[in-house]
Amino acid sequence: MVKIAPSLLSADFGRLQEEIADVTAGGADLLHLDVMDAHFVPNLTFGPFIAKAIRRITELPLDCHLMIEDPLTYGPEFAKAGCEIVTFHVEVDQDPAEVIDAIEAAGAKAGMVVNPDTDVRRLAPWLDRCAMVLVMSVFPGFGGQSFIPEVLENIRVLRGELGYDRDVEIDGGISPATAAAAKEAGANVLVAGSAIFGKPDRAAQIRAIRDA
Ligand code: DX5
Ligand code: ZN
Repeated sequence: MVKIAPSLLSADFGRLQEEIADVTAGGADLLHLDVMDAHFVPNLTFGPFIAKAIRRITELPLDCHLMIEDPLTYGPEFAKAGCEIVTFHVEVDQDPAEVIDAIEAAGAKAGMVVNPDTDVRRLAPWLDRCAMVLVMSVFPGFGGQSFIPEVLENIRVLRGELGYDRDVEIDGGISPATAAAAKEAGANVLVAGSAIFGKPDRAAQIRAIRDA
């Protein structure tokens, strides 16, 4: 079962409620929240306060992608704000087991993320504790970048050699043109920002990505 997660990074935040209603009617399965701290990535987005406000205006599960240096402190805050799943990067300088413990203790599922130039085998010690693995298909920080096909190898290794059978999410440059390759490699949760919010007919885009 393929799930589609529109990334709100490309939504119009001045009309967020309508934007969310639009992708919900269009068949979105979850909402992807991109959290950036201007340290781990060169961009800054929003904190738990906004996640909590989004929680109040939708019933879709919230998928929180932390692109921040300190998920140990803030991961639990996003869990308490009502995010179902909170993912953090293996590239940060913290103990993943501790971060997972903290997120779970605050009531959310935890998952881990690898950048395009990180070998997914690095996740091996914590895979049995990850409810989801997110494989980045662009370098994090901005929407609208081009898909990096070499990351499909990370997904194949995850599904094959590492035997990971839970959700595998892919994020960055996903569109009706790139979704088929991502699915073929083994991804089942597809994040898309500009490909959905950048087009007037969101339902058609969601369908095209799902059916690609
Ligand atoms: C990139 C973010 C992505 C981004 C994807 O740093 O993690 O979630 O919003 O945007 P598109 O789909 O436009 O590449
Ligand atoms: Zn993301």
